[in-house]
Amino acid sequence: MKRIINEMKLRLPAVSINESVARSCISSFMAELDPTVEELCDMRCAVSEAVTNVIVHAYKNHPEGTPAFIYISARLYNEREITVEVSDNGCGIEDIERARAPMFTTGEPGERCGMGFLVMESFTDSLTVKSRVGKGTTVLMRKILGKGEGAPRDDGKRS
Ligand SMILES: Nc1ncnc2c1ncn2[C@@H]1O[C@H](COP(=O)(O)OP(=O)(O)O)[C@@H](O)[C@H]1O
Ligand SMILES: [Mg+2]
Repeated sequence: MKRIINEMKLRLPAVSINESVARSCISSFMAELDPTVEELCDMRCAVSEAVTNVIVHAYKNHPEGTPAFIYISARLYNEREITVEVSDNGCGIEDIERARAPMFTTGEPGERCGMGFLVMESFTDSLTVKSRVGKGTTVLMRKILGKGEGAPRDDGKRS
C-alpha cells in the first residue's frame, strides 16, 4: 500500500538566492530514496525551474512591502515516489495551456526562453499546473524513482 514516509514544508522569501536553497533542500530530502545521480539532477532541475518562475514572474507587480513567498511542500512515498508542490500567492496565470507551450514567455525579450514548463514536464513523470489570476499558482510535480530497473547506476550498483 502506498504511504508517506517523509514530508517537508518550506516557506522561503521569493528572492533569487532561494533558488539554490530550494535545490539543495530537495537533494537532501530525496536522498533517503537513494536516487541515481540522474534522478537527483532531474528533480533539482525541475524544482529550480518552478522556483525561478515564482521569483521572476509571480510577484512581478506585487505592491512594495507585501510578503512574497515561495511555498514548497514535498513528500516521499514508500513506493519510491516523490512529489513536490511549488506555490505562490502571486499574479497567477491567465492561460495555463499557452504558458506551458514551448517558447512562450512573458519575460523580457532575450532574457527568458520560455522552456521552464517543458523542463519540469520532461524531467518528471507528471506535472500539474493550477492557477487563479490574482490569487496565485501551484505546480505539482511527481517522479517515480528506479524506473531503469536493473540498469547500472552511476555508482556501479544496480537499481
Ligand atoms: N508562478 C508563476 N506565476 C505567474 N506566471 C507564471 C508562473 N510560472 C510561469 N508563469 C508564466 O508562464 C510563462 C512560461 O513559463 P516558463 O515556461 O518557465 O518560461 P519563462 O520562465 O522562461 O518565461 C512565463 O513567462 C510566465 O508568463
Ligand atoms: Mg521559467
